[in-house]
Amino acid sequence: MKVLVIGSGGREHALVWKLIQSPKVDKIFCAPGNTGIAEIAECLDIKADDIDALLNFAKYEGIDLTVVGPEAPLTAGIVDTFVKAERRIFGPDKSGARLEGSKVFAKDFMRKYGLPTAEYKTFASCLHAEEYIRLKGAPVVIKADGLAAGKGVFVCENADEAIDSLRLIMREKAFGDAGSRVLIEQCLKGEEASFMILTDSKTVIPLATSQDHKTIFDGDKGPNTGGMGAYSPATVITKSLHSKIMKAVVAPMMKGLKREGINYRGVIYAGLMICEGKPYVLEFNCRFGDPEAQPILMRLESDLFDMLKATAEGKLKDVQVSWKDDTAVCVVISSKGYPGTYEKGKEIIGLDEFKGKRTTMIFHSGTSLNKGKLVTSGGRVLGVTSLGKDIQTARKNAYKAIEKIHFEGMHYRKDIADKAIKKTVTSNE
Ligand code: AMP
Ligand code: GLY
Repeated sequence: MKVLVIGSGGREHALVWKLIQSPKVDKIFCAPGNTGIAEIAECLDIKADDIDALLNFAKYEGIDLTVVGPEAPLTAGIVDTFVKAERRIFGPDKSGARLEGSKVFAKDFMRKYGLPTAEYKTFASCLHAEEYIRLKGAPVVIKADGLAAGKGVFVCENADEAIDSLRLIMREKAFGDAGSRVLIEQCLKGEEASFMILTDSKTVIPLATSQDHKTIFDGDKGPNTGGMGAYSPATVITKSLHSKIMKAVVAPMMKGLKREGINYRGVIYAGLMICEGKPYVLEFNCRFGDPEAQPILMRLESDLFDMLKATAEGKLKDVQVSWKDDTAVCVVISSKGYPGTYEKGKEIIGLDEFKGKRTTMIFHSGTSLNKGKLVTSGGRVLGVTSLGKDIQTARKNAYKAIEKIHFEGMHYRKDIADKAIKKTVTSNE
């Protein structure tokens, strides 16, 4: 079978790496891919949002399954276009992708179907939003409605900060039209976790749990990023909490999708805040999380191709999914300045010795080749992902691997998985 993966990040590198292990997959293409992906698949000079060119390629090459990594082509309707042309594709259609494409839609959906979530109000006027912030005070969370690459959310400790964020979104249009409307939300305190399911609308398979680290600096300080590191499984999600999430979040969500006439086929990612043992939904994504996909896919034992093809065909009930008992920890290395502006083109050294290793994978996100040299080309550059028999070992393996890697201005958090490890130690005392 021939597979086309769309996207160019660490998530897509992990997807390609796992898909190619399926005995059913003969060849993988990736559009546009990156330097790491190019070592195991054929990369194409087609942008992830060039839907017409992607469809033409899938037809011309006789692609059996197209797998969409990022949200932008999904919200732009790539699945609708492919399905209309009778091409098999993994991912939700435009109506399903609205769960991520509009935070206002997602919150209204949660409210309508009784999912636990923070209190919120929607504003299309900056002035009214400012008045509301002055009235309500802080802490408060300000969110741009549309897609903003994980950067359109501001958790504000005081009203001035909240108003500055609001003006950045609505007046300065830092995220363009994505900021035409904002959500102002109650600030929840607790521990976060990423809970993903695979669904064809009839069957739901929960994927391994994980925990991301959203902010750029240690101790959860600094601005939000796309994610600076993740581990799986998430220790905060105990067995009993898992059942609570299935009952209080997943069940009403599936019921809601049905009522809205959305035939969702793909991954639904619920970003959760666990407050005093109860799950609250912070956001939905319509795709695998990045970096979460990296540790999760390293733990997956089953054939990913079977899982994604069955989802696309509405036959998920025939699929069994199993996971390694190992823990996986992923530490993201980013360019100096990310999530703000950063320089590109810094030479990356030290990756050669990881080739062929099975306990540590270096998934590429922002890399490219310049005159035969591997150089940085994005904010998030690499995801160093290691397995271990427990979280301590996996973490140690990932940080030991990072010591061998170097580029000018490289930045990474030194505390990935630390909170979970501290808790494990305390609970064993
Ligand atoms: P989102 O993209 O909506 O998940 O928001 C990004 C990050 O902002 C989340 O991972 C949380 O760290 C934080 N966040 C979002 N909503 C809230 C909230 N209501 N209370 C506290 N933190 C939040
Ligand atoms: N790591 C968070 C996300 O993928 O949205």
